Amino acid sequence: MGHIGYLDLHSHILPGIDDGSKNWDMTEGMLQAAYRQGVRRIVATPHNYQENRKQDNENIRELCRRADELAQMIDSSFHVLPGNEVLYRSGIPAEIEAGHILTLGGSAYLLVEFFPNESYGRISQGLRELVGYGYYPVVAHMERVNALFGNEERISEIVEMGCYLQVNCQSLMGGFFDRQAASLRKLIQNRKIHFLGSDCHNLSGRPPIMEDCVKRLYQKLPKECVETLIYGNQEQFLKKKCI
Ligand SMILES: [Fe+2]
Repeated sequence: MGHIGYLDLHSHILPGIDDGSKNWDMTEGMLQAAYRQGVRRIVATPHNYQENRKQDNENIRELCRRADELAQMIDSSFHVLPGNEVLYRSGIPAEIEAGHILTLGGSAYLLVEFFPNESYGRISQGLRELVGYGYYPVVAHMERVNALFGNEERISEIVEMGCYLQVNCQSLMGGFFDRQAASLRKLIQNRKIHFLGSDCHNLSGRPPIMEDCVKRLYQKLPKECVETLIYGNQEQFLKKKCI
């Protein structure tokens, strides 16, 4: 493990706000598990749907401050950053301006979720709009987006447009015969995947794995490839710069 630890860009660790952590005890347990997995920066990304107005930014920031205090009690180098996982709809920039959506850690990066069967036309148009407003959209668990996964031409197109792609650690855990994991490794090798996320929701079904996944990647991919994914991109993200 490198000296800066891992960045987990996608998590549902804040209590009682979405289908993730149920209470502060669970949040604390998830933070401890993430810490044991080598994570030192975790972005809290509660689901954000248009109709979900209980999620004003101040509420999330306050929950993050408390989660960050818990993280600090585990280790002073461990931090929780505020964010959202925004389900795509038109008009996101205006909602950010109005204080209903948080970008990731106060940067221009924005975690955007698409329905699995969203059309490529709508995906590329939507991402183009966000890029046009100066945001760096990160497509959440791209392996679930049927119009993108398996289509390297489209992936290249949106990456060239200024977008980034996030993959869930769990999706990379498959062995030799797991075609999804093999395709994702190929994308990582071609520098088309920019961030890993645990997308953790709890401690059992969807736990905060990270190091298990990174170890697996080191076994299968050239070292520099993994280092760029894990450390290079994280460094740029933390400087709030584009990759
Ligand atoms: Fe998620």
